Amino acid sequence: MQRNHERISFGSKLGAILAAAGSAVGLGNIWRFPYEAGNHGGAAFILIYLGCIFIFGLPIMVAEFTIGRRAKASTGGSFGVLAPGTQWKWVGYLGVLTGFLIFGYYSVVAGWTLEYLLQALTGGFNNKSADDFVSMFTEFSQDPFRPILWLSVFMIVTHFVIVKGVKNGIEKSSKVLMPVLFILVILLAICSVTLPNAEKGLDFLLKPDFGKVTSDVFLGAMGQAFFSMSLGMGCLSTYASYFGKDTRLAHTAMSVGLIDTFVAVLAGVIIFPAAFSVGINPGSGPSLIFITLPNVFEQAFSSMPLLSSACASAFYILLALAALTSTISLHEVSTAFFHEKFRISRHKSATIVSVGCWSIGVVSSLALGDWSGYTICGLNIFDALDFLTAKIMLPVSGLLSAVFVGWYLDKNIVKGEATNYGNLKGTFYPVYIFILKFVAPIGILLIFFNELSLF
Ligand code: PHE
Repeated sequence: MQRNHERISFGSKLGAILAAAGSAVGLGNIWRFPYEAGNHGGAAFILIYLGCIFIFGLPIMVAEFTIGRRAKASTGGSFGVLAPGTQWKWVGYLGVLTGFLIFGYYSVVAGWTLEYLLQALTGGFNNKSADDFVSMFTEFSQDPFRPILWLSVFMIVTHFVIVKGVKNGIEKSSKVLMPVLFILVILLAICSVTLPNAEKGLDFLLKPDFGKVTSDVFLGAMGQAFFSMSLGMGCLSTYASYFGKDTRLAHTAMSVGLIDTFVAVLAGVIIFPAAFSVGINPGSGPSLIFITLPNVFEQAFSSMPLLSSACASAFYILLALAALTSTISLHEVSTAFFHEKFRISRHKSATIVSVGCWSIGVVSSLALGDWSGYTICGLNIFDALDFLTAKIMLPVSGLLSAVFVGWYLDKNIVKGEATNYGNLKGTFYPVYIFILKFVAPIGILLIFFNELSLF
């Protein structure tokens, strides 16, 4: 495995933070988080989620940063660099495979955001009834061509950014897209809370209902924290291999965690007040964003179709941008790996990844329509991929990374990376190590068993 000491790096610390935050902020924040919070007691879930971010998420993020920056290699190669001649290399390969598979089906949903953006821009939601929105989504997602067309567009855009490279592609795009994303989130949240009866939605989101807190909620919040922060597949470890020597790992992890949580909570502030305002009970899963929400926009501004279209368009632009900065990071994990491992050009490597992930995307998309009859353990291919990656591969890989840094890696390296080799105070270090050694592995095992319904 090539270990490049003159490795290209992000041009600035801000660029590094925005790129990592771009990976973290995605469909997980705007689609999954509000629905999870909504179904699990609103604010009570959010409090537990925040606890999970601090207790598990941030230390594991610093651990992944440590692996990447120290090895100066992509996730797929970094374990081989830090633990040569051992079987740890398989953890790196597992990360690459997980990223490859997630990217395949994630890009299908990312593509949907473009179709909905087009509909929003062209007034496609106007004068539609609740039932129309259901059939619109069902017909579209089961169509054999349109979702694949949009998935291809999404893949081409991601490919284009990746081919431009780390500085000119990933960093530059993050620096432009992330501020636009923040502005959209804030504007939409303001718009939503000023609707009549918005307080009901805010109450729902911000008033803790501890009656709904079961162990399932606790474990659900941990799972959401891992997915949302892009942990457990080395996305952030690959990005950290481009961090400069002066990038502060704990500080960067804290910033990414804050940005990710801020966007997730504001996504809830956009969705719930708007839904309650028009008297729609928030649905769940894909239906919240692709069925409930267009209906909300339509009803909230039924007398002002232009405003309705503008809000819906802003929302789907937000969703598409958030998805794009995440697909860029998913693409980079495999592109950097093939580029380094097989010493092929970045361009060639990116092409292999794009074609490979596009093929998985096509199969995932068809699995929701014409190919829904092909199942694995009762799940169609889309759901099977989701289950395999999010519920098995991410927790296993996250657990192994925590164990690797907590137990295996030389403590001089671990402490050195966390304190920038003595240049930063490391008062948090003993807590950090204790979490990596004990708290995080046990926590991840709990999620794992819970998700597999072994309890
Ligand atoms: N964190 C991204 C989101 O919230 C998803 C993701 C997971 C991206 C793993 C990269 C790696 O949507």
